[in-house]
Amino acid sequence: MFVDSHCHLSFPELQSQLPEIRRQMADAGVDRALCICTTLEEFEDVHALAMGYDNFWASAGVHPDTENLAEPTVARLLELAARPKVVGIGETGLDYYDMEGRKGGRTVADMEWQRDRFRAHIRAARQCGKPLIIHTRSASDDTIAILKEEGEDGSPGAAGGVFHCFTETMEVARAALDLGFHVSFSGILTFKNAADLREVARFVPADRLLIETDSPYLAPVPFRGKTNTPALVPYVARQIAELRGLAVEEVGELTSRNFETLFSGVQS
Ligand code: NI
Repeated sequence: MFVDSHCHLSFPELQSQLPEIRRQMADAGVDRALCICTTLEEFEDVHALAMGYDNFWASAGVHPDTENLAEPTVARLLELAARPKVVGIGETGLDYYDMEGRKGGRTVADMEWQRDRFRAHIRAARQCGKPLIIHTRSASDDTIAILKEEGEDGSPGAAGGVFHCFTETMEVARAALDLGFHVSFSGILTFKNAADLREVARFVPADRLLIETDSPYLAPVPFRGKTNTPALVPYVARQIAELRGLAVEEVGELTSRNFETLFSGVQS
């Protein structure tokens, strides 16, 4: 069996196909999925998925790319984290990618609001004891530094969590592991140009590995460019199995176990 540790089933292109997607998941042996929240406005839809289906869970958080929508406070995040079936805080983190274009020519110094928002998530996670779901893009130094400043060092009492949809270097993977975090790989791992990333996937200890789709984005080869769904997560597992000389079922089992260790209450 397989777990999709990060998907966006509340997005309209997936939500509208839910019965079909659930059938495909069952056929593919994908027995659980974590539905990820990216805005406070979206939370109720994400949460409704978790409440509507035994094998779905939800997170609470605001993506670093979300702008001009409600800003999360620690108190608000804690309130949402206390709702049933909310098992993680995020996705949160930092995204400095394409400051010239996407960020309207702002500088890293102008992104203090992202760093403040990230700190609010870390503080909430540490208070409620639920793990962080981290998105980091072109911002790994600050992501690691802020986690450390907020006390995340892998010690008992730390929130911990996962660096999701990992696309960073070996050095960043080491830093994340040193802080006690898990590392999650998406369909990007199957892309032709991802040779360096495949080295990282070979290196991450077996007890810290997770798999995900980040659907509807990033469909794995041979579906690249199509709408992704949790039913395709075994293709990520297959790539890892190939890299590590394991059977695909073994990767499904070990990543399912890791999912249960990291997120409490997600036992099938
Ligand atoms: Ni995501």
